[in-house]
Amino acid sequence: MDFRANVLTVAGSALIAAASPAPVLADAAPVTHDLMPAPLRLEWQPGQLVLDRRFSLGSVGTADPRIDAALARARTRLETLGLTLAGPPAGAKATLVVEATGAGKGVQEVGEDESYELNVSSKQARVTAANPLGVLRGLETFLQLARVEAGKAVVPAVRISDRPRFPWRGLLIDPCRRWEPASVVKRTLDGMAAVKLNVLHWHLSEDQGFRVESKVYPKLQQLGSDGNFYTQDQVRDVIAYARDRGIRVVPEFDLPGHSTSWLVGYPELGVVPGPYTLVREWGVFDNVLDPSKEEVYTFLDRFFGEMASLFPDAYMHIGGDEVTPRQWNASASVQDFIYRNNLPGAHGIQAHFNKRVNEIFTRHGKKMIGWDEIQSPDLPKNILIQSWRGSKALAENARRGYDGILSNGYYLDLLFPVADHYLNDPIPADSTLTAEERRHILGGEACMWGEFVSPETIDSRLWPRTAAIAERLWSPADVRDLPDMYRRLEIESVRLGALGLTHLARYEPMLRKLTGGQPTTSLRVLADLVTPVKEYRRGGLRIYTSSSPLDRLVDTARADSVSIRTFETALDRYLQSAPAARDDSALRAMFTTWRDNHAVLEPILTASPLGQEARPLSRDLAALGRVGLEALDSIRADKEAPAVWTERARAVVEASAPARAEVELAVVPGMAKLVLAASQLDQLKSMTPAEWNRKLDEQLRAAAGGRGEH
Ligand code: ACM
Repeated sequence: MDFRANVLTVAGSALIAAASPAPVLADAAPVTHDLMPAPLRLEWQPGQLVLDRRFSLGSVGTADPRIDAALARARTRLETLGLTLAGPPAGAKATLVVEATGAGKGVQEVGEDESYELNVSSKQARVTAANPLGVLRGLETFLQLARVEAGKAVVPAVRISDRPRFPWRGLLIDPCRRWEPASVVKRTLDGMAAVKLNVLHWHLSEDQGFRVESKVYPKLQQLGSDGNFYTQDQVRDVIAYARDRGIRVVPEFDLPGHSTSWLVGYPELGVVPGPYTLVREWGVFDNVLDPSKEEVYTFLDRFFGEMASLFPDAYMHIGGDEVTPRQWNASASVQDFIYRNNLPGAHGIQAHFNKRVNEIFTRHGKKMIGWDEIQSPDLPKNILIQSWRGSKALAENARRGYDGILSNGYYLDLLFPVADHYLNDPIPADSTLTAEERRHILGGEACMWGEFVSPETIDSRLWPRTAAIAERLWSPADVRDLPDMYRRLEIESVRLGALGLTHLARYEPMLRKLTGGQPTTSLRVLADLVTPVKEYRRGGLRIYTSSSPLDRLVDTARADSVSIRTFETALDRYLQSAPAARDDSALRAMFTTWRDNHAVLEPILTASPLGQEARPLSRDLAALGRVGLEALDSIRADKEAPAVWTERARAVVEASAPARAEVELAVVPGMAKLVLAASQLDQLKSMTPAEWNRKLDEQLRAAAGGRGEH
């Protein structure tokens, strides 16, 4: 059943009848709820539950400390709505009763039941689940429903029946490239739990740092971390914190490449004798373990034995990505080993290494995960492959019978718009996999690689964007309406801010640094309209290291901003309107702001060492504002803009297009379209606005041919 059929709106008034799922990019998406991720089934009921000071929480059924802890947190979070809750924890008579009818596993497992039912009437709310995990998920839904309305905290009456589409819904955090203390990891876990993610993939070793304490091989962290590592007590604390929130913790120790930090303390594991020093820049490096040495496996057996007891999850990750074979190729002893064992070259010796490590993992009771590159024909089927290279690789592996998860398309560090991540499906609609093969695709993981994030900025890359990926992995495949996703994402963003994530709270202080303490209103106009350069371009624009400050405009700007979407939506609506119905007031107001902003912002930027580099962008935004106003004037007068204007306006747009200060003015493509529209207005006399828009878009695509991203 499609839950959007025949449901009441949140306000409980209008009846919306949507017989089929809304098409992607539909203009009028059915407004159904503010939840993220969207539940499987939701039916609004008449009335609402008022949360007043008599409101109480209680649990019945299976006792589990996770439920008690979740109720205590829920209570605190409800109090942020302005409630003071008087009642002590209560049982079956509580206002909100949660019930797990069965027990959970001592160590959370993949595929453990996370389903729940949430029923809210005007008298009581009830979460029922077969497993404590379902109670945790249902409580998050209840908290997302709670709102202040007409001076009262309320939850609308509703019946929700929900369960995840995929059992593996993860987020990778990389504290290796740059250090992220445990406090960052913990608040990230809070955000993950709020959007029903259930795996923290903790990338713990890299060329730039070894980030966990080993008591067996202490030189790993002593010489390989600059003092920035998690103690075993901190690791246990993070794991307990995650477990409380229904999140598994999977550690990654990246081998045999990406391994310089191991070799600093233990050079004997490497191919070349060393000495090694920690890498402090970004890239793929040649240092690699020597799979031909038996002592390497003795070391790994003891090391993974230690980690297998520190990390309770059934899985451990050995990385395996991006191994450069240069040192293997240049080593006589490695080549001799390859020859004697009849291995097919460098890939063969990596496969041999993986096989040996998998045996070690099996001995310590763990299942092995690796990135795409670990795939080789003779690898046993009990491993899991994480695809960063593409969903085709994921499907191929599933066809061969390997479990897999998707990360290609979910790289948050590439700073693509949320929509790109959101529409990226581990099992796309056109997938030709059989039902049996599909079962091997366990889900996916968002990846927050650490090169360009600090404790101050990481939340602005993670949130609210990760919530959209969480929805892709939790909600039904046909929940794909972009405007509705963006609408709910902004609501979820505020909820995540209230939970303690810092993506909203840090924006103003970061702007303030760029203005050197001056007022930020004018800088915000500009910062809201630029996006950081995408993909891996930033690393090519200047030398960055693990200690470069990340406090420039590019660190402050976001990959997605409401202002950019507001501009794009207003422009679309304007150009798609019939001439008689055209309303240019919203665009006119924006262009006027852009035009006039520079006079205020320029002196502020000029006086600020961190702000100076943004001056050309501010100047170009003003020029775009002027061009925009002129275009609107032409169109309003129903007079096609003359060729000489078009030439000048195009030059302004083109001059605004290149990245400066490692950011781009995100309004440039829209402005190019507006200029083209003004210059081809007469065509509209013989076409509908839709045809005209199509033609304008075609010309813009042709002009951008080959230059476009993706
Ligand atoms: C990867 O991005 N090298 C896994």
